Amino acid sequence: MRLTRVPGLLFGGDYNPEQWPEEVWAEDAKLMVEAGVNMATVAVFSWSRLEPRPGEYDFGWLDRVLDLLHEHGIAADLATATATPPPWLVREHPETMPVDAHGTRLEFGSRQGYCPSSPIFRAATVRLARAMAERYGNHPALAMWHIGNEYADHTLECFCDESARHFRRWLTDRYADIDGLNAAWGTSCWGQHYTDFGQINPPRVAPGPINPAQVLDWRRFCSDALLECFEAEKVVLREVTPDIPVTTNFMSILHGLDYWKWAAAEDFVSDDAYPDPADPTSHTGIALSYDLMRSLKRRPWLLLEQAPSAVSWREVNVPKPPGKMRLDSLQALAHGADGVMFFQWRQAHYGPEKFHSALLPHGGVQTRGWQDTLRLGGDLGKLAEIAGTHGRADVALVLDWDSWWGLEAPESMPTKRLALLRLMRTWYEPLHALGITVDLTPPDRDLSDYRLVIAPNLYLCTEESAANLSAYPGELVVGSFSGVVDAADRIHPGGAPGPLRELLGLSVDEFWPLADGVEQSVRYADGTTGTATRWAEWIRTEGAAGIAEYADGDLAGQPAITRLGRATYVGCALEDVTPVLTDALTRAGVRPVADLPPGVEAGLRTGPDADYLFLLNHGTTTAALTLRAPGTDLLTGRDLHGSIEIGPRDAVVLRTAHEGEK
Ligand code: GLA
Ligand code: GLA
Repeated sequence: MRLTRVPGLLFGGDYNPEQWPEEVWAEDAKLMVEAGVNMATVAVFSWSRLEPRPGEYDFGWLDRVLDLLHEHGIAADLATATATPPPWLVREHPETMPVDAHGTRLEFGSRQGYCPSSPIFRAATVRLARAMAERYGNHPALAMWHIGNEYADHTLECFCDESARHFRRWLTDRYADIDGLNAAWGTSCWGQHYTDFGQINPPRVAPGPINPAQVLDWRRFCSDALLECFEAEKVVLREVTPDIPVTTNFMSILHGLDYWKWAAAEDFVSDDAYPDPADPTSHTGIALSYDLMRSLKRRPWLLLEQAPSAVSWREVNVPKPPGKMRLDSLQALAHGADGVMFFQWRQAHYGPEKFHSALLPHGGVQTRGWQDTLRLGGDLGKLAEIAGTHGRADVALVLDWDSWWGLEAPESMPTKRLALLRLMRTWYEPLHALGITVDLTPPDRDLSDYRLVIAPNLYLCTEESAANLSAYPGELVVGSFSGVVDAADRIHPGGAPGPLRELLGLSVDEFWPLADGVEQSVRYADGTTGTATRWAEWIRTEGAAGIAEYADGDLAGQPAITRLGRATYVGCALEDVTPVLTDALTRAGVRPVADLPPGVEAGLRTGPDADYLFLLNHGTTTAALTLRAPGTDLLTGRDLHGSIEIGPRDAVVLRTAHEGEK
């Protein structure tokens, strides 16, 4: 199924014509056609131009933009334009601006300044969304709706009194009565027993650590409050334009929003991805995000923004060297994207993003950047047939936002050194290097498609999640400090691993966080050793067998890694999980999609008539590898078989027979 009515892969970018005199627009359209652009994101930050005074609209300029795009065969990803409230709203209703944890109300002058709980803000967005839908619902350029922009960017939370009232309503829905909340939050500790919901505030700045259960519910609430803003606009769009798909741009793997919940509210997932060109490993981190995007709805998704070259918001904004913009784009496709779009089309001449790269740089069509744009447009045309095909994974990594929020609570943990994304990457990086496709999954979703499931950390684990993992018949690996607390951040009876105890056949006697700089040696059964840092545990086995033990220090001789049946438990933070992973992959019978030299990434998409194997050389030297099956490289049209070479920052997209038919 296609994302929108536009055939092939989507290509284009954020288009901000209101920053330019109208004479420039004709050139924009002409050059978009030349580059093969078929989609432009319009009006994301245009509220103050579209509704310059309350209820008074100025749609003329946007009419002309959409007409122009349509005349040139370019579809619109039309924003509802609600991402930045206009000055009149802020001046008339200063209470629509967000308040920080110290009680300071933030000023106008940037963007995305709003209190997510403000009924005035919400009503104004819904009114504008309706006006946009009624104006443009039948415009032939309209292909998709883009609500808001990067929810949680700039404004994730607001601590004002309106937000406090909203938080209390949210808590009342969750706990029904105040004693339910008292029990969940454990308010007998530190004298916090409440007698009325009205006594509860957001976790503003307090004299000491705030109740972690309160902070956890606040995280849930903040994600939900923004989602309500999205939903309020979506209801109107559905009513007026039921056939136009609705999305909003995610921000890769983001701590602040529970994207499992958010994705369920969208027609398709879109993502904004900004890997740092200065970081030679950034392609691995972004691959993990892309795998999340594919997994959220288990269907193709859209890369809605990336930078053609440098961004303008890091300490040092390094450009992308020749070939990287194309390779980054092909990478998103390898991970299941059905389009690659950019921020932005024409490079700005003023404002905070004037140094941010664009598809059409300041220097115009003479530039290297423009040549890259033309080349990419050409390549995407050659890859049109992959639109709608999808990836299939045998391995899944568990990601749960509740657990992430609990683990990274600001205070009161055994250590502040366990960051979820680092734990995830410890498992993801070797899988990625091997060429094994990885899905992400919440812990309570059907896991029967997978042969191997890895939960790098499941600090917060409900009975339901534990039952789901226990019923899963495949190989399972559970990382340390899992099964510690329930949904309200209360320690499970008997301690860790709580509801996973029977499955794993052990209990954790005592957590053993390792001081900074300490390297704890671990010895495997075959005599080889590994290193744990940051975290270890004193484990008592209850049926599980030790497959590695601590080799030195106070834990010497204690089990470090255990197994019971198909369930492996890794009771420490290993620097390199390869031995455990290799064993689990062998037991699960999982094979890489290709045999890869270092620096080469593989991705496989399956279509009705063929498989598409992406081989991406992220290195700066030529890579050699041997193909398992012959095929045609869609980028060059060449038939390939046997040994092949891929140049630095180059790629092959091989159409081959389906796996079983080779
Ligand atoms: C102080 C406080 C106690 C407790 C301990 C924990 O001594 O008085 O209530 O918080 O710290 O170490
Ligand atoms: C985000 C925003 C865009 C732009 C880019 C710049 O993705 O959504 O409006 O600011 O960052 O990198």
